[in-house]
Amino acid sequence: MTEAAKFVLGDKNAELQLRHGTIGPDVVDIASLYKNTGLFTYDPGFTSTASCESKITYIDGDEGVLLHRGYSIDQLAERGDFLETCYLLLYGELPTAHEKEDFVYRVTRHTMVHEQMSRFYTGFRRDAHPMAVMVGSVGALSAFYHDSTDITDPHQRMVASIRMIAKTPTLAAMAYKYHIGQPFVYPRNDLTYAENFLHMCFAVPCEPYHINATLAKAMDRIFILHADHEQNASTSTVRLAGSSGANPFACIAAGIACLWGPAHGGANEAALNMLGEIGTKDRIPEFIARAKDKNDPFRLMGFGHRVYKNYDPRAKIMQQTCHEVLDELGIRDDPLLEVAMELEHIALNDEYFVEKKLYPNVDFYSGITLKALGFPTEMFTVLFAVARTVGWIAQWNEMIEDPQQRIGRPRQLYTGAPRRDYLGIDQRG
Ligand code: CMC
Repeated sequence: MTEAAKFVLGDKNAELQLRHGTIGPDVVDIASLYKNTGLFTYDPGFTSTASCESKITYIDGDEGVLLHRGYSIDQLAERGDFLETCYLLLYGELPTAHEKEDFVYRVTRHTMVHEQMSRFYTGFRRDAHPMAVMVGSVGALSAFYHDSTDITDPHQRMVASIRMIAKTPTLAAMAYKYHIGQPFVYPRNDLTYAENFLHMCFAVPCEPYHINATLAKAMDRIFILHADHEQNASTSTVRLAGSSGANPFACIAAGIACLWGPAHGGANEAALNMLGEIGTKDRIPEFIARAKDKNDPFRLMGFGHRVYKNYDPRAKIMQQTCHEVLDELGIRDDPLLEVAMELEHIALNDEYFVEKKLYPNVDFYSGITLKALGFPTEMFTVLFAVARTVGWIAQWNEMIEDPQQRIGRPRQLYTGAPRRDYLGIDQRG
């Protein structure tokens, strides 16, 4: 007998099938509810709604667990590397040595962008936010790579996916170089993914750039930690845009636009700005009080998460990476780090934060780390976008291959004016 939930309201009733995942909460399948009862469900912010079936990422927010294809983020970050994580997200399994070599080769051979893209960049103002440039330039890829925009062809979909993973670092580095008025630096295929990115961002034509292995490792880890995160706002945006059949480059540009917001990917930039604003440890109580004050819109940036009601597992690894980078660079007594550590300590012991289960999230320590690596705050969300590109594209592929896939079309609770007659302008008043 199939399990079903019963819905009864007056004379309306419906049997709603229960569906089980491998782990995590079961779902009540309400797809037939409207047909059988004429009722919609209402869930702004999707706090109780599973929007799709997925095999890619699992989060247990209460326990602070994040798994990609069943592997914990701790193990992937400790023992793997970013391109291996990309392979895992895209194909569902960790690669064999041969598969990895082939994948790395394919990504590496796609790192250059069409030369005309550089002229596209010069149309932007120098002071444009690099995320604005990313939304435009990633969207523009669809105008350059027509041979990978037929979404019905699995081969073209995979070519588009590899292109996207390979080219977003190049576009991000170009956005940075344009912003600071330095010449673009071409990718170097003898370097690893993270090394190449640091090289494209920080090398200049007039002197050699030496890769620091510890910093490259930290960069790679930051990419792993941000690679995918289930059906968050930007991923849902990519899926929704893709559900209409839009091409993958346009869908990823939509995801980047969504990621930009301070409640999402923009939080790492906002967290660092906040630490700077607090400035010294003695001012922390003032900011804690503001965060607790219902009449003050201020929030502790880098704290709280829609899903994690425990320590964000990515934040723990990020904190460790942050210390490794600061040690390597000999940055001791960093005032921002001091404020961050003290703020974390106070917030974790404060009744308000404890009761609401507000823990530091991944963005709390990533800002300090990225600053130490040499990135200006405007670039932080761009780096998040580079890393998340694989998650977006893996989720997009999964959606296209899902036989249940239809255009996403939510409904609404209409609270506007009921039907009324049009009045001529002389009759209004
Ligand atoms: N500081 C102070 N109070 C907070 C905070 C915070 N950072 N976050 C949530 N609260 C309070 C909030 O006022 C509310 O209180 P009440 O129940 O009394 O009204 C309660 O906690 C629940 O908050 P919510 O806004 O209903 O929760 P949400 O799930 O809608 O929001 C969030 C999640 C991440 C947007 C929110 O915690 C926030 O704005 N945090 C700061 C921004 C941030 O760090 N974002 C990065 C998220 S992780 C990276 C990513 O995945 O993009």
